[in-house]
Amino acid sequence: MLGNPVSHSLSPLIQNTALARLEKDGLVYLATEIPRGKISEVIKTLPCLGAVGANVTVPYKLQALEACDVLSERAKAIGAVNILSFRQGQIFGDNSDGVGWLRALPDGWLKEDCDLRVLVLGAGGASRAVVATLLAWGCPEVIVLNRTAKRAEQLVSEMESRVLDGTHLACAGLEEFWELLQPGCLVVQTTSVGLDRRASPVSLSGSWPKGANFSELIYGEPTPMAKWVSERGGGVQDGLPMLIHQAAESLSVWLDIPVESVPVDEMLRAARMFLAS
Ligand code: ATR
Repeated sequence: MLGNPVSHSLSPLIQNTALARLEKDGLVYLATEIPRGKISEVIKTLPCLGAVGANVTVPYKLQALEACDVLSERAKAIGAVNILSFRQGQIFGDNSDGVGWLRALPDGWLKEDCDLRVLVLGAGGASRAVVATLLAWGCPEVIVLNRTAKRAEQLVSEMESRVLDGTHLACAGLEEFWELLQPGCLVVQTTSVGLDRRASPVSLSGSWPKGANFSELIYGEPTPMAKWVSERGGGVQDGLPMLIHQAAESLSVWLDIPVESVPVDEMLRAARMFLAS
């Protein structure tokens, strides 16, 4: 794992748990803090050190994309890389953030319902992964709500070419959240607000509509918004299952094994035990 900072990362625990269960004794997963300006150099050096691949995290997902020789369709769609694979002298870039989020979502939250409206809070890197995945899935309506209007407009305009017939993609301000929220909506919280467990990206008052669900990408102790929704009977999921599923997809790419053979339950258990300790 290449990022800055990485000291908080659960990825080494999750990945080494899976590697042990899969009996890949010759492989170890490490997290390394890469100094600013050094990421391209490090990526180009890793194959010489015998690395099979790497994950890339904040703030290097865009620079990693530029260092790749070949990109997967989903990396192109998201516009960022979180998986690097080193094969036959080439650097392959892929992205498992979107598929990880989708696989982690509880059954029935993304229903083939012609009225389904998804509100995505935030327009940063995590939002791009979620929006690109929703568009590829054929979601009927996706609205990106962001503090800075320009950033949401930019995301929507970049994704426009990927909008399938029958999908409505739009943007709005965070202050429009309560007007746009409807019964049965799916709300995906991708901003960094709430990491401190104090703030919420939208004001919290009133009631939560029937059948609306809340997918929070921050993991661990519930954020104020997740707590608030849960207290009002809404379905809530935190970001830990997404973290596990994007890790599982990374392993399946590096080891060239079906993702179904990756021990996700064990990885999730190890992460939950660590967070509870
Ligand atoms: P990531 O790659 O994790 O998504 P990012 O690209 O830095 O991180 O994006 C952070 C997101 O959180 C952005 O949507 C940002 O909104 P702006 O585009 O307006 O900066 C949002 N965000 C961060 N702090 C915020 C705050 N205090 N209130 C509302 N949104 C905030």
